[in-house]
Amino acid sequence: MCSDISVDEFKPRPDVALNALYEPLRHTLERSSACLEWELQLPWIDAIQRLKQHRRALILAHTYQAPEIFHGVADITGDSLALAQAAASAEAELIVLCGVYFMAETAKILAPGKRVLIADALAGCSLADAISAEDVRQLRRQHPGVPVVSYVNTSAAVKAESDACCTSANAVQVVESMGTQRVIFVPDRYLGSHVAAHTEVELILWPGSCEVHERFTARQVREARRQPDTRVLAHPECRPEVLQEADFVGSTHAMAQWLARERPAEVALITECAMSDNLRAQFPEVRFASTCQLCPHMKRITLPGIHHCLLSLEHEVKLDEAVSAAARRALQAMLKVGRPTRP
Ligand code: 13P
Ligand code: SF4
Repeated sequence: MCSDISVDEFKPRPDVALNALYEPLRHTLERSSACLEWELQLPWIDAIQRLKQHRRALILAHTYQAPEIFHGVADITGDSLALAQAAASAEAELIVLCGVYFMAETAKILAPGKRVLIADALAGCSLADAISAEDVRQLRRQHPGVPVVSYVNTSAAVKAESDACCTSANAVQVVESMGTQRVIFVPDRYLGSHVAAHTEVELILWPGSCEVHERFTARQVREARRQPDTRVLAHPECRPEVLQEADFVGSTHAMAQWLARERPAEVALITECAMSDNLRAQFPEVRFASTCQLCPHMKRITLPGIHHCLLSLEHEVKLDEAVSAAARRALQAMLKVGRPTRP
């Protein structure tokens, strides 16, 4: 399976000396969570670090990855847009994506000459599953001449049918870059209605949703505001009535930026749980109210899984050339718009 490498050399080594070597990381992880599993995690973190160096690999991790991955082994962390930008400019020949499958596909489309691996090829996304390429073709037939903007949380085949992709960080700007009065926006109806409220462009929406964010209720958000100075930040994949209760709505990156700017005494992040865990380490003076939902797909990525894929080079993303080239045009239209300076 891994004839090019000595498996024994890169096995996790339970070694007391590791504690001293990784002392700063232990401090970071202690701030981010109870860190009860440190003793179990450390040998894996160390083995992945050694293997990563040996393979000259670049590890990209989404903000929803667990702290031991986000702080422990990733080279670059961020929201979907940051990971796409990092893949497009990566120099490493081997990229390991810690996130869900559409993110790994996006990296492969933008870095076609590189080898892109994902630690668990079954890490899916309810939004990416909500629409097919044929659905997009059907929408185009129903609305001739209307351009299609697809959220990056889609398959490569759907991207290939789109004029441009967007993330939650630049959806309004990408929609407006089409220069038309109407735009077909797929597949997230909640992000779509949030965008529609911030632009003059008329949006034709699709009934997709994120199974994680749609679980939040307005009542939960009101309960999370337990102190007068608690600030509520929500991801635009939440329902409109939830977003109405929030002080700020933005992508995961925008929420982190807001926190860095405003430094509230207490914050409730209405999004995936790992986001609070990871930011707790960055902002120790801010209290984080525990209102969050787990994304089961993001949580398929584990330290042993990352170690295995680096060792075996399994779970490589492979795409049809024509689909990849068409999807690249849509992703490049998104990268051209880039990240708005202030959300
Ligand atoms: P971001 O684009 O904000 O990183 O969100 C990605 C995602 O999957 C949200 O559920
Ligand atoms: Fe998909 Fe929702 Fe999970 Fe993000 S949180 S990966 S949108 S299922």
